[in-house]
Amino acid sequence: MDFLVKPSSQWENTKTNCLIVPVYDNKSTGAKSSSTQNNSTVLKQLDNLSNGLISRLHKTGDIRLGKGKTTLIHNTATEKFPRLLFLGCGKELNTTTFREVIRALAHELSHHKITSIHILMDEFRVKDLDQTRLLQQATTLLESFSYKYDTTLSKKHPKPSLEKIIYYCEQASVANKKATAQGLAMAKGINYARQLGNLPANICNPTFLAKSVIEMGKAYKKISVKVLEETDMKKLKMFSLLSVTAGTHQPAKFIIAEYKGSKGTEKPYVLVGKGVTFDSGGISIKPGAKMDEMKFDMCGAASVLGTLKAVAELELPVHLIVVVPAVENLPSGTATKPGDVITSMSGQTIEILNTDAEGRLILCDALTYVERFHPKSVIDVATLTGACVVALGKHASGLYSNKPELSQQLVTAGETTYDRAWPMPLWEEYNQQLGSRFADIANIGGPEGGSVTAACFLSRFTKKYDWAHLDIAGTAWDSGNTKGATGRPVALLTQYLIDRS
Ligand code: BES
Ligand code: MN
Ligand code: ZN
Repeated sequence: MDFLVKPSSQWENTKTNCLIVPVYDNKSTGAKSSSTQNNSTVLKQLDNLSNGLISRLHKTGDIRLGKGKTTLIHNTATEKFPRLLFLGCGKELNTTTFREVIRALAHELSHHKITSIHILMDEFRVKDLDQTRLLQQATTLLESFSYKYDTTLSKKHPKPSLEKIIYYCEQASVANKKATAQGLAMAKGINYARQLGNLPANICNPTFLAKSVIEMGKAYKKISVKVLEETDMKKLKMFSLLSVTAGTHQPAKFIIAEYKGSKGTEKPYVLVGKGVTFDSGGISIKPGAKMDEMKFDMCGAASVLGTLKAVAELELPVHLIVVVPAVENLPSGTATKPGDVITSMSGQTIEILNTDAEGRLILCDALTYVERFHPKSVIDVATLTGACVVALGKHASGLYSNKPELSQQLVTAGETTYDRAWPMPLWEEYNQQLGSRFADIANIGGPEGGSVTAACFLSRFTKKYDWAHLDIAGTAWDSGNTKGATGRPVALLTQYLIDRS
């Protein structure tokens, strides 16, 4: 879709397919069934241009004002806007309800053959959200609404008819245009991540992931890609990572993508994404219910790759390296067993007490590997623990860091994009839960504080740089009848990099 920002002063002089007008429920002001009920200059203008149509609709109570309620008027008999779509905003909007209203708009539009819309953005007044944020979030929401998974359906979804969105804003400023472009790039990254996440594990295996990244490297000239094979990983002594792939026939891949948007001498930001393309649990096998959802266990990888795409779309002046350890976790006669002890790339030995705690086993070697880049910061993203879903649900990703400043920057980026993360502790007491009699460290810390002890495990491999970990087990995909990957936290990560560039 194309998104444009135009000055509000032009709206009366432009012809539009469909004009979107946010309307509020101002009953408490005392006025009754008159065109001035909404007290809005825009509505008065519209009323004049349409020969009193708005007043008549108000009188008959035909404009729905409730939050997210839409009223589409065809045949306004007004050349400038043959269609009017009133978008109910209730009494007032906050960020959450603004986003609901935009989704309702996208939903309504999807039922009609409307190719372009004009939105009167100045009519949205949202507490704590300036217009740049409104534009960014609306753009991300509208563009990502157009994504529908149908790769493995024999009947494909029809192409959405909406092609163009024009925002009328008091200021068609550089800031507003930039925010819109950023929102669009984020959505492209989000949709890319969702697609990888949604693909079944018999298609999206480590080899497929590696191929997708190589394709991305061909599509953007600032991206170069390198893929390490298991033989390379053995030479690097990544025996923790390799222990996870021991039970499957699918070869593991270690994917490294570099985006050079600034001078190559600049130290890079590094993103590491958990790429378990299917997590059966291994010998510590998972129960059957919902095991299909473990195809989403590569959503960390998908999100860092989606971020790479968004950054490349925006041609941000940053140096970014994205690393994806990609494996499949299956049981078999060659699989790693509970009680096995392996030596990680860092030299620390690990007693594998549960083969289902595999994410940390691939991440720890990746986190050791990235030391060579002397990174400005390293952020790993992983669907790491069911415990994080219990702690934070699906609204916030769990955030851990060894550097308060980095943690704050990520919280801020999450608030800006409403792709939020919440800080969690990495205290010594939790770390002590990882003690082992037979190795330097155990790969599980018992039933208490599971998301925290998983993060503590990772923290033992990240002492040489500023590091943060995002546990996205609750935020990466939706279950139930909206089952599917969300593309989180692409928006948060992209915003973090925008803020640093
Ligand atoms: N991929 C899972 C975490 C997960 C589970 C995410 C359910 C979303 C929903 C991870 O590899 C895992 O299995 N973690 C275990 C760790 C435990 C064995 C210490 C868990 O959370 O149960
Ligand atoms: Mn697991
Ligand atoms: Zn897993």
